Amino acid sequence: MSQFAPEPDRVLIFDTTLRDGEQSPGIALNTAEKLEIAQQLARLGVDVIEAGFPISSPGDFEAVQTIAREVEGPVITGLARAQAPDIDAAWEAVRDSERPRIHTFISTSDIHIEHQLQSTRDDVKGQARAAVAQAKSFADDVEFSPMDATRADVEFTAEVVQIALDEGATTINIPDTVGYAMPDEYGAMLRRLYELVPDLRDVVLSVHCHDDLGLAVANSFAGVLAGARQVECAVNGIGERAGNASLEEIVMLLRTRRADVGLDTSLVTTELARTSRLVSRLTGYVVQPNKAIVGRNAFAHESGIHQDGVLKERTTYEIMDATTVGVEANSIVLGKHSGRHALRQALEQLGFRVEGQALNTAFKRFKELADKKKTVTAMDLEALVTDELRDEITAGYTLDWFDVEASSRRPPHARVSVVLPDGTTGEGTFTGDGPIDAVFHALNGATGVDARLREFNIGAVTEGQDALGEVSVIVEVDGQTGSGQGVATDIIEAAARAYLRALSIARERATIVAERGPDSLPAPLASAP
Ligand code: KIV
Ligand code: ZN
Repeated sequence: MSQFAPEPDRVLIFDTTLRDGEQSPGIALNTAEKLEIAQQLARLGVDVIEAGFPISSPGDFEAVQTIAREVEGPVITGLARAQAPDIDAAWEAVRDSERPRIHTFISTSDIHIEHQLQSTRDDVKGQARAAVAQAKSFADDVEFSPMDATRADVEFTAEVVQIALDEGATTINIPDTVGYAMPDEYGAMLRRLYELVPDLRDVVLSVHCHDDLGLAVANSFAGVLAGARQVECAVNGIGERAGNASLEEIVMLLRTRRADVGLDTSLVTTELARTSRLVSRLTGYVVQPNKAIVGRNAFAHESGIHQDGVLKERTTYEIMDATTVGVEANSIVLGKHSGRHALRQALEQLGFRVEGQALNTAFKRFKELADKKKTVTAMDLEALVTDELRDEITAGYTLDWFDVEASSRRPPHARVSVVLPDGTTGEGTFTGDGPIDAVFHALNGATGVDARLREFNIGAVTEGQDALGEVSVIVEVDGQTGSGQGVATDIIEAAARAYLRALSIARERATIVAERGPDSLPAPLASAP
């Protein structure tokens, strides 16, 4: 049996958080942040990490290459259009991985062929053949996707799939690119492809569904029931437009109904909640409270009848145990007497290797927090370390100090000092509509950057009055957006940190676009899927 043949009862998880997910508006992860997420995805046990789209920008190339070199375990793949320079770039970026894959695609729907590619079906066949052959000359493991397949003529898609298989593709992925399919229809289409292309049975059939009609997970599941053994999905369901199938939902669906469906993944599900939090923090995309599996309320019971039932017997109103997705994995508790060694051990248990100066900074922030809060939990530590990590990797403006006068009798006034990228400091003052508005405008003054707030979200890391506050913002500078999050016991400080990070990213992107043009950025991608 070929090493690429599907296993009958195992579904592979292909995570595209760093590629399709990163194409969400406002998300702009840099290499260090992508590496952090990739390392967590490896801990979670995903089978494949789609680390980016190497041809799209030097930044994306560097991120994919770094992940390929440093992340062990999963297959690492990079996306490539069915064009020679894309495939060269994808191979250069992934070749140092212990398990490299090239993922190439071209549309098979007439809408795309006529209007986007301005080409013909014959050309598409030729390009698919050449692309897979070229990819195969570099890598054993090659995935091919006929884009917009769910709106294409299935007979034509089958012809193109057959060509890809003839040239040696080892995974065939059938994208519902615009989230148009319905579960029965999608399942039937995959069954029809199996009939038209019997060779499909020797490779892994994959599904890639978008959530425009809220059916991405249902369609992916229908695909699995029809025989697909790889699901492409993203943490928290992020991705183009309405996003991709949510990784945690499809994984827990298969795990929870394993006895009935007879299929499972090999994911370490206790890492799901943590992965979700990390992706949310680094992307600035807040998880809605009622989101299945990882939402704050996914395991909360509000009604008295439900609470009563759960207290008597958990399974009365819970189909999953929260600990299986890591929601209550909050066992590490430190207090103000805990030392540096205990902190380092706790961080190691959480998967963070923190040494030297980074440990000193983490320890300082831990002590400040422990002075304000009786106990410091795993979730607090995780939030603090991720917050510090952002400063290390966002080369830009950092908060020095702030003063805010807030009163219900006069307009709030803020004064701030910011450490500028050249190491000097700048000050700004503003009298605004509210204390946070005043701080944000004062930060604009201190940095000399005219940033505009687009989104603002505020939450708490844990429960209780002394909880760490967490703020995430999206700002715009000269048409470019950036997202940032900040964590602190003082919510104004958290907001200021988040704002400065978002401003630093948006300003850097605006500078790149001004100097090198819009194609120099990884997202949004002019001709991307
Ligand atoms: O949605 C899509 O069609 C894609 C492909 C590149 C797989 O993202
Ligand atoms: Zn997609």
